[in-house]
Amino acid sequence: MLTLRNATFATMTPDAAAYGLVERGALAIRGGDIAWVGPESEMPTSMSHWPQEDLGGRLVTPALIDCHTHIVFGGNRAREFELRLEGASYEEVARAGGGILSTVTATRAASEEGLLASALPRVDALLSEGVSTIEIKSGYGLDIETELRMLRAARRIERERPVRIRTSFLGAHAVPPEFKDRADAYIDEVCLPALSRAAEDGLADAVDGFCEGIAFSPAQIERVFGHAAELGLPVKLHAEQLSDLGGAALAARDGALSADHLEYLGADGVAAMAEAGTVAVLLPGAFYTLRETQLPPVQALRDAGVPIAVATDCNPGSSPLTSLLLTMNMACTLFRMTPEEALAGATRNAARALGIGDAGTLAPGQRADLAVWDVGHPAELAYRIGFNPLHQRFFAGKS
Ligand code: NIG
Ligand code: FE
Repeated sequence: MLTLRNATFATMTPDAAAYGLVERGALAIRGGDIAWVGPESEMPTSMSHWPQEDLGGRLVTPALIDCHTHIVFGGNRAREFELRLEGASYEEVARAGGGILSTVTATRAASEEGLLASALPRVDALLSEGVSTIEIKSGYGLDIETELRMLRAARRIERERPVRIRTSFLGAHAVPPEFKDRADAYIDEVCLPALSRAAEDGLADAVDGFCEGIAFSPAQIERVFGHAAELGLPVKLHAEQLSDLGGAALAARDGALSADHLEYLGADGVAAMAEAGTVAVLLPGAFYTLRETQLPPVQALRDAGVPIAVATDCNPGSSPLTSLLLTMNMACTLFRMTPEEALAGATRNAARALGIGDAGTLAPGQRADLAVWDVGHPAELAYRIGFNPLHQRFFAGKS
């Protein structure tokens, strides 16, 4: 049992105005969960004798949640970065066998230990900014064994660090060279069997796909989602990143937790997502890295009441980014989101994009995953660039 005193709390609870701010607040932790939060003067007397920590007037928010990453991978793509600077586009690099496929080669060559070891420094960078939960996708194996190896490496991060990991099976990320021009055969012979194995071994919390001209068609994604439904796994989708194939609407029809990227999302897709309660996960790091010019329809999403999350999309190609704070800044500067929307996007709405009900806000019964910041107001979190004001992180009540 512990009480945190003398702080401002941004509870980020739904429908609360202005970050759900509680000035001169206090928060009580019992058994790793939040037992109470409110103005310090109103703390129940039963809690007033619990051990206490004075936070010196700092700001406390829910710990951050990075709800879309590909943080486990082999190698890096600095060479591709150079090629793109010489004029090649992301799609040209991909079609020439570079891009995702070059990471596939490096990932297949890596051991589970190697994948884990190379991911940990990236994970540490996120944790140092107050992140408590990270979603991690497979999708650089594209053969059964390597897809499973990636997921096992992702799961092991939870044993190495105080962090919660959610895994997504992304077998439908790209067509590997041995199945070139045979995407349907890849789905039948590799993707679906790998998904069955991942589910059997308890390695996947959700199923993702990449619906795009350079990846899989809506019909192919439907087949993967059909199998996910048979296995009882929720779905999410990389959709409308480079073109509008109607992926977000397809995902929404299947009750997807989220549709992600969405630069080319049209009105039909927005309406379908609103209807289904599918979260829009925006990824400004990929937009920035690929120097996209088509903005995601933020105002239409807002108007329709679609919850918006933001995430790093940490991956070696389109978003070699390991700062969720910088991502929040980019969401504001590039996508014109407000600092409050950016913080909700990295807390409450990110939890929802993962189907997690016990994190992302400060309220009784939620896990005590907290970030304590050396700032006076929560808008400062998205405002600063390249500065980390984290003072302390609590993971399930432990700092
Ligand atoms: O989210 N869009 C597809 N997949 C990743 C990129 C992966 C890569 O380039 O390695 C993304 O941007
Ligand atoms: Fe991604």
